[in-house]
Amino acid sequence: MKDRATMTHHERIAPLAELQANVSVPFAQARAMPRSVYLSQDFLDIENRDIFGKEWLCAGRASALAKPGDYLTMEIAGKPVIVVRDRDMTLRAFSNVCMHRMSTLLQGSGNTRAIVCPYHAWTYSLDGSLRGTMAMEQNEGFCKDHYKLPTFRCEEWLGWIMVSINPDIEPAAQKFAHLGKLVERYGMENYVQAFSETMEWDTNWKILAENFMESYHVPICHRKTIGPQVSLDEVELEEGHPTYNYHCSLKGEENYLALAHPDNTRLEGEDRRRTYIISLYPGLFISLSPGYFWYLSLYPIAPGKVQVVYGGGLAPEFIADGKSAEHFAALKSLLDEVNEEDKGCTEKVFNGLRGGLAEPGHLSHLERPNYDFAKYIASKLTA
Ligand code: FES
Ligand SMILES: [Fe+2]
Repeated sequence: MKDRATMTHHERIAPLAELQANVSVPFAQARAMPRSVYLSQDFLDIENRDIFGKEWLCAGRASALAKPGDYLTMEIAGKPVIVVRDRDMTLRAFSNVCMHRMSTLLQGSGNTRAIVCPYHAWTYSLDGSLRGTMAMEQNEGFCKDHYKLPTFRCEEWLGWIMVSINPDIEPAAQKFAHLGKLVERYGMENYVQAFSETMEWDTNWKILAENFMESYHVPICHRKTIGPQVSLDEVELEEGHPTYNYHCSLKGEENYLALAHPDNTRLEGEDRRRTYIISLYPGLFISLSPGYFWYLSLYPIAPGKVQVVYGGGLAPEFIADGKSAEHFAALKSLLDEVNEEDKGCTEKVFNGLRGGLAEPGHLSHLERPNYDFAKYIASKLTA
């Protein structure tokens, strides 16, 4: 492979041209995305600029930042970001970079009364304004009131914390109104998170996304866990929407947590065993069952590395029935196993496509969401 420094602009954007050609055929003839879009650093740079830098990304469930001072940190398109619950209970997102000599401020997640820079202790309030400094009174140009951490968009939507570094983005509730309506009867905003963990997988973020959005792999990759509960004949597919895609599967009696609890009066008929598998572009992937939910929120780190926030929890009826600890334990061990199986499958795909011994094959009709996702990616990127 050629050194990036000596590549021409045309060579750098070649993966984008390949992707555009790939999605220009109708679904009935579609193939998987070209190898280059998973391997190229230049392509990831374009994705960061045009997708992760422009869209809403999920920072987890709002219930994880329940108290004033609860915070988490994340990186969006290379920019360090803090999300914090302010004293007035507002969720705020701002730059995680000190305005003195530009150290990052907070790390990981936790609770804090103020944001204190670990370098020279410039101290910011939970609304991002500079509250205190040491030994700055001799600098004539310095005025504390002129410093405030730049803010980013942050909104709560159906219990999710949505963050965007794009100041002009449409409000999340508006942008995702179509999906909100589709799953309204599930009451996802009332589902209770039981766990969330952050991990890194050795694969491209899109391979993980694509794995989530098709159930074609479920009977095989998950044959030791949920595979036997999913019948491919019962998978319900819809054409994608510009902001998300989804498909549904009907769960059998074996997984009682996937079914509506007897006290759940919101859902009727087949909905009581219908799981929605939702891919909210670009990085939030939700499996929403009548009894539980789990999700992955993805951020690319490198072409072959993705950060994964993995979380899940129960519908309120399963929390209220007195056996919630038992339900949590059963759910967590099942989901951990499923996730481990997905990790294995998606890391194998990245390993496999690296060597160039195969080219993308045709898609099954069960991979309709993958085609819609490829079209979404192609539509957002510019040369
Ligand atoms: S870099 Fe933050 S106080 Fe100096
Ligand atoms: Fe899977």
